[in-house]
Amino acid sequence: MTEIFHGAPGRRTARTSTGFRLITSPSEYIPDDVYLDLSQVLGRRVHMKCEGLNFAGSVKIKAATEMVDAAERSGLLRPGGRMVESSSGSLGVALAMIAAGRGYAFTCVTDTRCNERNLRLMRVYGADVVVIEAPDPVEGLLGARLRHVADLCAREPDVLWLNQYANDSNWLAHYKTTGPSIATAYPDAEMVFIGAGTTGTLTGCARYLKQVGHPAKIVAVDSLGSVTFGGPSGPRHIPGLGTGRRPEIVDESVIDDIVMVPELETIRMCRTMAGRGYLFGGSTGTVLAGMMHRISAERADMPVVAISPDFGERYLDSIYDDDWVRDRFDPGGGAGRITRRRPAAPAADGLGGI
Ligand SMILES: Cc1ncc(COP(=O)(O)O)c(C=O)c1O
Repeated sequence: MTEIFHGAPGRRTARTSTGFRLITSPSEYIPDDVYLDLSQVLGRRVHMKCEGLNFAGSVKIKAATEMVDAAERSGLLRPGGRMVESSSGSLGVALAMIAAGRGYAFTCVTDTRCNERNLRLMRVYGADVVVIEAPDPVEGLLGARLRHVADLCAREPDVLWLNQYANDSNWLAHYKTTGPSIATAYPDAEMVFIGAGTTGTLTGCARYLKQVGHPAKIVAVDSLGSVTFGGPSGPRHIPGLGTGRRPEIVDESVIDDIVMVPELETIRMCRTMAGRGYLFGGSTGTVLAGMMHRISAERADMPVVAISPDFGERYLDSIYDDDWVRDRFDPGGGAGRITRRRPAAPAADGLGGI
């Protein structure tokens, strides 16, 4: 007998009588049970959750699916409707894929940091892609992207803005999937390292882990120059982590520690790992660089989990391209050091307003 789900999103798994998984749309395949043991290569007990192992190629498939499902349930998104979203690229690819599959129109407002591969992927899926080139003087490229979205929505009231920076479905996606996966697979993990972009992954995982009483310290990893945790704004070139405007869904009450990583350290880590046979995306390099810095003074056998948002193929023309790096960074390494910050509020009851 073969059991098939039609159009069911995400986590539910259909299996054939011979035990194979059978899906009917790409967004159903979320392999939440795969971890990569990096202990040999890093010399520390690090297991990495690889969120790039799905059809959209990044962690953002989870937020995209959850936000679209919620919009459909609430009636805000109707058959044949149109969505708009501001994205550094990965969410745009995931939404473009879902929109194509479900018959919606989709406009992605991105900026010049979006890599060529993601731009092309979105267009192949039929999305309308707007690339913002001029940053807002205060809120940077993200601020300019959001203003463009707001103008579009004012002109065309039928367009639905998902607004990943403020949308509870963004963090709920991880509260329902990534958090439970880590808690089940690693009840003894002592630290969990999570990159912060919109903070959907971070907020969702941290709220879940704190709520179930998981003992791990939650360490947020952000790019130097990001304002999410109150640091000064600075230039950033790698998409994924960091913001020019604090996301509404960030919840510092469930974060124990914050590590800020300069992009040159991200590039060094990505290239070091490639030399060992692991091709990771920029945000994964940032998470690994911040993690190695943070655990350097801890005991070597401390069990650690880190989340990898995507893999490296989409960054061949940037992080892994010598000219791209030379044009943007001081090779002498004068771009800052990895630093630790304290969250604004201590993780008191750790329930983060749930
Ligand atoms: C490649 C990549 N890594 C990490 C992130 C950050 O994830 P989150 O938005 O859940 O904080 C993003 C978000 O867009 C991303 O595209």
